[in-house]
Amino acid sequence: MAMLKVDHLTKSFGGVTAISKLHFEAPEQQVYSIIGPNGAGKTTLFNMLSGIYVPDTGSIQLNGEEIIGKRPHAVAEMGVSRTFQNLQLFFNMTVLDNVAVGCHLRTDSGLFSSALRLPKVQHEERRARDWAVEALAFCGLDQYKDHDAGSLPYGVLKRIEIARALAVQPKLLLMDEPAAGLNDTETLEMRSLIRRISEAGITVMLVEHNMGLVMEVSDRILVIDYGSRLAEGTPEEIQNDPKVIAAYLGGELQHAM
Ligand SMILES: Nc1ncnc2c1ncn2[C@@H]1O[C@H](COP(=O)(O)OP(=O)(O)O)[C@@H](O)[C@H]1O
Ligand SMILES: [Mg+2]
Repeated sequence: MAMLKVDHLTKSFGGVTAISKLHFEAPEQQVYSIIGPNGAGKTTLFNMLSGIYVPDTGSIQLNGEEIIGKRPHAVAEMGVSRTFQNLQLFFNMTVLDNVAVGCHLRTDSGLFSSALRLPKVQHEERRARDWAVEALAFCGLDQYKDHDAGSLPYGVLKRIEIARALAVQPKLLLMDEPAAGLNDTETLEMRSLIRRISEAGITVMLVEHNMGLVMEVSDRILVIDYGSRLAEGTPEEIQNDPKVIAAYLGGELQHAM
């Protein structure tokens, strides 16, 4: 069954059409990857899927419910969580606090009750910490819990971002270039983490340039070029698609094999 259904999606910035009449269906509990050259519109797509950008036209349905028109926190409430292409961590905070911060997106206490630290708020803070601890363990990061994020290597920071996105217990996780800048060992760790997330029953959408990683972890792949759908299918179908090879994958794919 399709968890996410995107239809006729278009987004322009001035004269630039970043996403053009895009359609695809991402099945539940699979890894669905989106590949395409720089500037193809991948991050713009994620920004629409998470409610940050409002599309010009089209529809985005999560389990039959329309996302367009909802604010980012409401989309998060529906179970959509994400990581960013550029790290968005607080370097002067501990790892645990960085991860717990994600949960506050989903807590519903107003500023007034937060300021008074009413029991409901205290309960939510405890819950945020519990979920954060759980997510850190899941990502193999227990030992860094009390470290300042600023003191840790890049590969660990990328996983902290994922822990933060997981701490809210999402149904759909959008990962924007999780392996960018990682060395070979860190990339292998990332691959096994993506697999474990998927095995935990979370639907994963992956934007990534490392073709070896994409081909290994994906159930299906969508190829976009200049914001339009070029091809869609299993990794094997994509690798053998003459359109894809001609447009951009040829060299990189051979390199990845
Ligand atoms: N906020 C924005 N304002 C203007 N142009 C944008 C904005 N975001 C993206 N774009 C443009 O949209 C196109 C797609 O960008 P992006 O989605 O970042 O591509 P990708 O993630 O595939 O590299 C690019 O031409 C980019 O310059
Ligand atoms: Mg991008």
